[in-house]
Amino acid sequence: MVQSVVSINHLQKSFGKFQALKDITFDVQAGEVFGFIGPNGAGKSTTIRVLLGILKANSGQATIFNEDVWQNAVAIHNRIAYVPGDVYLWPNLTGGEMIDFLLKLNHQKHSTTTDELIHEFELDPKKKSRNYSKGNRQKVALIAALSTAADLYIFDEPTSGLDPLMEELFQKHVLALKQQGKSVLLSSHILSEVERMCDRIGIIRGGEIIETGTLEQMRQLTRTQVIVQAKQSLAGVESLAGVHDFRLDSHVTNKAVFAVDTTQIGQVMADLAKREIVTLQTTPPTLEDLFMHYYNAEGAEDHDTK
Ligand SMILES: Nc1ncnc2c1ncn2[C@@H]1O[C@H](COP(=O)(O)OP(=O)(O)O)[C@@H](O)[C@H]1O
Ligand SMILES: [Mg+2]
Repeated sequence: MVQSVVSINHLQKSFGKFQALKDITFDVQAGEVFGFIGPNGAGKSTTIRVLLGILKANSGQATIFNEDVWQNAVAIHNRIAYVPGDVYLWPNLTGGEMIDFLLKLNHQKHSTTTDELIHEFELDPKKKSRNYSKGNRQKVALIAALSTAADLYIFDEPTSGLDPLMEELFQKHVLALKQQGKSVLLSSHILSEVERMCDRIGIIRGGEIIETGTLEQMRQLTRTQVIVQAKQSLAGVESLAGVHDFRLDSHVTNKAVFAVDTTQIGQVMADLAKREIVTLQTTPPTLEDLFMHYYNAEGAEDHDTK
């Protein structure tokens, strides 16, 4: 049986009259990297603050390691490492002192791993925190979290402010955590990051989870792009079930570009085969396409009316 490390059920949270979380339900399973993805203001950080016991939910349940996040925050904290999106450091401490301080808070010790991480992330640990850029502050928190032995790692948009090489380094470390069987909750608005690292993702919009599943499952919900050339004419393909945005080449009738609902692709390919395919190129939807699919589906009156 799959074991849930994080379990969130119909969570709601309001700030005064504003309901930041309307209905949040998802699980993070043991040993998986779960991507929590959505645009700014969707409610990612609020959800994470509830998980950390910093904010109290108005209703719904949230547990980590089967313990209530509000009642048992202290016990839970001993087994998790957390990196906020906006890292606050004490200005008078150096980066190195700050890392050790963060480790101490988590009952951890500075280890050779810590030194290796400082080296890998190219952080100068002797500088005072007040002189660090956003990226360097982010590195301090990442180094402390990655050298913490925890069961669950929670990263809230951890790579904002990091350059692409450092982002890649971060991804490498997250995959290493996964290989050790650790669980990771990663919030992000960077689609490629989530696509590369996450086993499952949850899409949040306006305080609600609008979809949860593997990338493969989500891809089933959208369209595949097809570019095809056949020996015979492609006339009539446009009226097959699931075919959209069909465009014939302007000069010949045996070349076309179209989109097909991923669920209908089998039937459409069978039809194309009868027309003797010469070349065929199919492009599965990217996470970005998926994202647009969901974000256009509501609230955009003049788009995606299909
Ligand atoms: N302490 C707060 N008081 C009032 N509104 C808040 C507070 N924290 C967050 N919000 C609002 O809740 C919504 C969700 O914010 P947040 O969880 O930070 O989104 P995300 O992390 O996805 O960008 C936003 O509209 C934000 O302005
Ligand atoms: Mg946030």
